[in-house]
Amino acid sequence: MPARILLADDDRSIRTVIGRALSQLGHHVRSTSNAEDLWTWVAKGDGDLVITDVVMPGESGLDLILRIKKARPNLPVIVMSAKTTFLTAIEANQRGAYEYLPKPFDLNELIQIVNQAVAEPKTSVAVNKHPVDSEDDLPLIGRSPAMQNVYRILARLTNTDLTVLISGESGTGKELFARTLHDYGKRQGAVFVPVNMAAIPRDLIESELFGHEKGAFTGAISRSVGRFQQANGGTLFLDEIGDMPLEAQTRLLRVLQEGEYTRVGGETPSRTNVRIISATHQNLQELIQDGLFRQDLFYRLNVVPLRLPPLRERIEDIPLLLRYFFKRAAQEGNSPKTLDISATEKLESYDWPGNVRELENLVRRITALYTEELISADIVETELSNGLEKPQNVVSHSKEGLTGSLNKHLKNYFLAHKGSLPATGLYERIIQEVERPLINQTLIATRGNQIKAAELLGINRNTLRKKIKLLDIQIPRGSR
Ligand SMILES: Nc1ncnc2c1ncn2[C@@H]1O[C@H](COP(=O)(O)OP(=O)(O)OP(=O)(O)O)[C@@H](O)[C@H]1O
Ligand SMILES: [Mg+2]
Repeated sequence: MPARILLADDDRSIRTVIGRALSQLGHHVRSTSNAEDLWTWVAKGDGDLVITDVVMPGESGLDLILRIKKARPNLPVIVMSAKTTFLTAIEANQRGAYEYLPKPFDLNELIQIVNQAVAEPKTSVAVNKHPVDSEDDLPLIGRSPAMQNVYRILARLTNTDLTVLISGESGTGKELFARTLHDYGKRQGAVFVPVNMAAIPRDLIESELFGHEKGAFTGAISRSVGRFQQANGGTLFLDEIGDMPLEAQTRLLRVLQEGEYTRVGGETPSRTNVRIISATHQNLQELIQDGLFRQDLFYRLNVVPLRLPPLRERIEDIPLLLRYFFKRAAQEGNSPKTLDISATEKLESYDWPGNVRELENLVRRITALYTEELISADIVETELSNGLEKPQNVVSHSKEGLTGSLNKHLKNYFLAHKGSLPATGLYERIIQEVERPLINQTLIATRGNQIKAAELLGINRNTLRKKIKLLDIQIPRGSR
């Protein structure tokens, strides 16, 4: 369907490229270099679609969107911008832009968006009222293409209640992004409740999430409110979701499917009203293959995937982040510092296994330990190797061996109960946790061949079959 397209950009070559491509598709394109023309056309009722740059002589494209949406709420406006921060993306979105494209953009993508906008124009979205702070107060630093992409997805998500799964290496900002999404989203006035699956003893997770009745299990001295209830009306952030035990996964899945939860030991269900954002540094696909994560739950949580790029994939952002963290250190009363060029270069060629957190800690260390104002490459080098912290959540099993890691795990497990004891039936539960990966990995090694697996394990075939059923193990592919 041919459409009348109004195009405004002060860059002539961009007007030519877009104009040509859209005309070839049969659209009628009218273009200008300034905001004034664009407004005149829109006010006259011309055009079925607007494509505009943010920075233009006359008026800011962002202010113009607001006027356009007021005058013609159903006219889709696609906004382009070269100078993008999270702020631009959010602002464009809050003013009702149909789509927001960071420059340089992919022409094919633009065409696709145009076709989509022409075919099914979105009715105007509710404009979000969060006051947008000045750029200095922005929580998210970085302007690399990889981050612009993230901002764009984030901006679009603020008008929705969609379930989001954030993935990314340790220290890439998963929690920060989850909070930002909440702070700028529809539920901004309500609570944000984080729960870290890796920090809660496994058999307490269900009661932590859903609450429990008095006497539901040993140690349940009084009735408790779960996180689902606490987060009511707001956002529930399920951090390190890959660490959730299978039984709790099954329960969570049911809750998400039915929109209702019941306290542990309770009977009357309550309706849930939470937005779910989850995060993981693990590869969930691998966990699914290893039988440690439910695929159906994955699909429920992964409605919108948001991948945070590791720092080494966006070295352009390193100087910005350094400046930001040094400035913050100075504001906290430390003497101001700058890095010399070779020091910055050293940091740009570094691998950053701990990502932004590692960089933040490096800045902290340097501010605390050195008096000089100009920081050299040598200092940076010393401190980089001093800080060789293992990224969090990555446990090295190789050295301590299986018994060693089990010992450590169990010790922490008892400690985590803080004086009280875990629920009874511990032997069976722990043995099952050892059995599950043992059987699962053996099945993977024998490509699902149960006869071979039984042989390898040195147990009876029927016993293996029973265990598989009991432990709810999925037979890996290639099985017979
Ligand atoms: N884009 C960013 N701009 C500014 N600060 C950031 C950015 N990304 C991360 N940080 C900072 O880096 C630190 C680590 O971020 P966060 O805790 O959100 O990471 P994470 O991905 O949840 O890490 P983990 O997997 O270890 O839990 C925080 O102090 C956070 O404020
Ligand atoms: Mg985290």
